Amino acid sequence: MSLRKLLTSIAYALAIAKATASPTALLSASVTGAYTPTIEPQSTPTYYPVSEQQAGSQLNNDEYYMQSLGNGGYFVTDGGYNHFFLVACHSVIVVDAPATLGINILKAIRSVTDLPVSHVVYSHHHADHISAAYLLGTLDNVTFIAQKETATKLAAIGDYGHRLYPTITFEDSYTLNLGEAEDLPGYIKAHEQVMLYDFEYFVGGHVNVPGNRTDVQIAKEYVLDLFETCKYALLEAAKPYNNGSNELSAEFLLGLVTAANPSNPWAPQAYFEKVITEWVANVTIPRWDDRLAAIDVYGLSNSETMLEPVKIDYGILGSFGVKLD
Ligand SMILES: *[C@@H]1O[C@H](CO)[C@@H](O)[C@H](O)[C@H]1NC(C)=O
Ligand SMILES: *[C@@H]1O[C@H](CO)[C@@H](O)[C@H](O)[C@H]1NC(C)=O
Ligand SMILES: *[C@@H]1O[C@H](CO)[C@@H](O)[C@H](O)[C@H]1NC(C)=O
Ligand SMILES: *[C@@H]1O[C@H](CO)[C@@H](O)[C@H](O)[C@H]1NC(C)=O
Repeated sequence: MSLRKLLTSIAYALAIAKATASPTALLSASVTGAYTPTIEPQSTPTYYPVSEQQAGSQLNNDEYYMQSLGNGGYFVTDGGYNHFFLVACHSVIVVDAPATLGINILKAIRSVTDLPVSHVVYSHHHADHISAAYLLGTLDNVTFIAQKETATKLAAIGDYGHRLYPTITFEDSYTLNLGEAEDLPGYIKAHEQVMLYDFEYFVGGHVNVPGNRTDVQIAKEYVLDLFETCKYALLEAAKPYNNGSNELSAEFLLGLVTAANPSNPWAPQAYFEKVITEWVANVTIPRWDDRLAAIDVYGLSNSETMLEPVKIDYGILGSFGVKLD
């Protein structure tokens, strides 16, 4: 989870806590004038239905689902988190050890083999994806492998708890920075790198079914569409309002909010970003609703995540371009 997302969800949790404060608290707060509800009560949202195929598989009584991918490879999911293991000739190699799968990782392995776990590979350093690593062995009898950047991030955190520090790190093109919104160029490139492999199954860290080449291709096309749409919106924002024909004009949007909030310098920028993000989501969601499950659930936050790096990593600055006059 990116820091910004984390902060947003903390702010959101606080807002909910505020909105659901007890009636007594509400009463006393309204008497003192300190309480301002920030969330309007609203009806439960409904989203596009997800097909049976997209919804994935039924969990067993232990609350996991396992699927053989052939050649000794197995996909295991708890519905939210996934991992993969490979039964080799003399041992088992595990990729990721999500916390919520926990002991089920061993149960799944033991349901097909008695071979010991010899290697645990971390896809990235996030605690939710690798915190069950300590259940699989110790630094003495299992080799923990990670890309160098993962080790660096763990070292920077210091207290990495159940994430055993990788004993082998490597560089090269194994940088599957999937899910790292902070590294958008790497994230986009990862889709291309994945397609270069001759693979049949793709096991991502989330979602409850293993993917195939078509899925990776669809994800890649969506990410590129989101990228191009953000780019378009940022470039449009740099153009004049043109008498109402350019609803994305920064000049217009910023002016509007500045006029209504003359003493609040944060309001115009925040509103501008909200409108651009919403516009990108409004344009892209209908284009993908028949190809990507839950696009209406995540389309807006995907747009928000994409917008900033398009600006600051790719330099599509739009209305924030180099000042020349
Ligand atoms: C590794 O060592 C621990 C602690 O002695 C033990 O519980 C575990 O079964 C061992 N794992 C393997 C794969 O040998
Ligand atoms: C990939 O999986 C989807 C959904 O299960 C399926 O419809 C599609 O035919 C598969 N594509 C390939 C190339 O196997
Ligand atoms: C802008 O719109 C107004 C009102 O619709 C119109 O009177 C004016 O001529 C327009 N100006 C331009 C430059 O199109
Ligand atoms: C996006 O769509 C919603 C729902 O139709 C609408 O209320 C909102 O104004 C749209 N936002 C933009 C920026 O187009």
